[in-house]
Amino acid sequence: MCGIVGYIGPGQAAPILIQGLQKLEYRGYDSAGVAVLDGDLITIKKAKGRLSVLSQKTDGGRNLSGNIGIGHTRWATHGAPSDENSHPHVSQGGHIAVVHNGIIENYKKLKESLMAKGYAFLSDTDTEVISHLLDYYYCGNMIDALVKAINRLEGSYALGVISSYHPGEMFAVRKDSPLIVGLGEDRNYIASDIPAVLEHTRKVYLLEDKEIVWFKGNEVKIFDIDKQEVQKDIFHVTWDAGAAEKGGFEHFMLKEIYEQPSVIRDTISPRIRDGKVYLDDLKMTDEDIAKLSRIYVVGCGSAYHVGVVGKYVIEDMVRISVSAELASEFRYRKPILTPDDLVVVISQSGETADTLAAMREAKRLGCRVLAIVNVVGSSVAREADDVIYTWAGPEIAVATTKAYSAQLQVLYLLSLYLADKKATITEAEHKKIVAELLSIPDKVSAILKDVTLLQEYAASHYNAKDVFFLGRGLDYCLALEGSLKLKEISYIHSEAYAAGELKHGTISLIEEGTIVTALATQRELFEKMLSNIKEVSSRGAVVFAVAMAGDTDIASEADTVYYIPKTLPVLAPALTIVPLQIFAYYMAVNKACDVDKPRNLAKSVTVE
Ligand code: AGP
Repeated sequence: MCGIVGYIGPGQAAPILIQGLQKLEYRGYDSAGVAVLDGDLITIKKAKGRLSVLSQKTDGGRNLSGNIGIGHTRWATHGAPSDENSHPHVSQGGHIAVVHNGIIENYKKLKESLMAKGYAFLSDTDTEVISHLLDYYYCGNMIDALVKAINRLEGSYALGVISSYHPGEMFAVRKDSPLIVGLGEDRNYIASDIPAVLEHTRKVYLLEDKEIVWFKGNEVKIFDIDKQEVQKDIFHVTWDAGAAEKGGFEHFMLKEIYEQPSVIRDTISPRIRDGKVYLDDLKMTDEDIAKLSRIYVVGCGSAYHVGVVGKYVIEDMVRISVSAELASEFRYRKPILTPDDLVVVISQSGETADTLAAMREAKRLGCRVLAIVNVVGSSVAREADDVIYTWAGPEIAVATTKAYSAQLQVLYLLSLYLADKKATITEAEHKKIVAELLSIPDKVSAILKDVTLLQEYAASHYNAKDVFFLGRGLDYCLALEGSLKLKEISYIHSEAYAAGELKHGTISLIEEGTIVTALATQRELFEKMLSNIKEVSSRGAVVFAVAMAGDTDIASEADTVYYIPKTLPVLAPALTIVPLQIFAYYMAVNKACDVDKPRNLAKSVTVE
């Protein structure tokens, strides 16, 4: 959701900005722009649509001279996608150019007051108030102007700023929107995310809220809001540039699906020793765990779906009440929390606005927050009391696959860990589940070895208008994610239902030819699912079932059956998700959809 890149150094800025923005395309955008500073001359080029349009307009940036610049991909919030609304936005008089990611909540009030002072607005964006505000406060010192402007801004922002008053300099600041500083030898960068700078450097500063960065030549200084210089530690990126490339796969999504065996292994293996789970990163004491009265698992989209699995698994293993919560609801519904409650927030990016806000609300109410996060050093990771990282590496495709799988694994580890501490499962049960957990990577590999059935099924059903996903127990949790995966990338309408709810209304939607994906991996609920399959197929539904190897009774009820390798029912979600991802992927490919960058979606939802 909006991408920012900035460059200052000896090279020509614009081509570097455009290349950096390409690496951020996965975040989602509808227009793009760059501003470059050549001496005291600012040149701006922007274009609605794909980055390739801007690239064509500027010959890949080569026809824009200047060694300092800021670039932006915009995901429209205030004002339609258009050239005028694209960033950078300039101040009246054109002396200050700004790129912005986030939302200025009080922009209307600010706009009115700036208009009353004679400022004319050229766009519908909230961002334009920032460029005018900087101009209004500018008295020869840009850091002073930034501090004053920031003090007036409500909402979230990551900003890149250049000015004709400051040839040879660049400025940046963030609050509640991601921004990093990339440190090169004789050149430096800003970016919304690490992949944009990875080709140039692995040394970065992770900025805290309201830290202001000043770049001049190859010098970088960081100041707090009181203009005191801040000394920061360099964060060394360990994953290689290839991790953010397609590596021969047609799409990032497919590559990420195929990375799942190693991602799962990386996430669980270091935390399992002698058949036992160790969460060394946790600061929670045994006493804290003993006191736990309730757990809330909070997230958005797929992360929320992991939370729903968490409810079933934790309640089963730890015998403690768990509530799975949508962050956007949780943050506003005045949740009743006590200091003995644990709030587990799940987020791939660690920057999702609603998840961050829900976490802050929980902390304000005195709760301990444990975060399950993929992006190291992200806002959620930094603000949580405890962090368990998912070692999924960079996830580029908008539709999450490997991060979802890694989050699931962490939930299993957490459940086992708490169950062990609270002695709610026996040592033998613990060992049995752990041993099976360690076999999951190989079983995922086995699924990935032959996807022909899924490919063929997608090839003959991609024209479907509706696809229903049914399941009971943990299969219902997976139905939620399977359905989301399909709709977000293939644009096919899809719904997920708890199969027991069919007779309470849903079954009226079933007609001749309706496609139903029936998940039936839970042995205890298997017979009940068979009845549900009968109910829909007798009304004309075409049933694609997913069951566990050996449960062949299903073959006579469903039109097509996909068997996952045998595992413990509690761990089945870790396998069931894989064919659902592949099915969604090939449905979208057959429909020639933009799999990695589905329409209207952004990878990191940094606004409400
Ligand atoms: C899933 O495929 C989605 N792209 C989306 O639902 C995502 O899981 C959600 O926006 C949460 O993102 P986060 O994990 O970065 O917080």
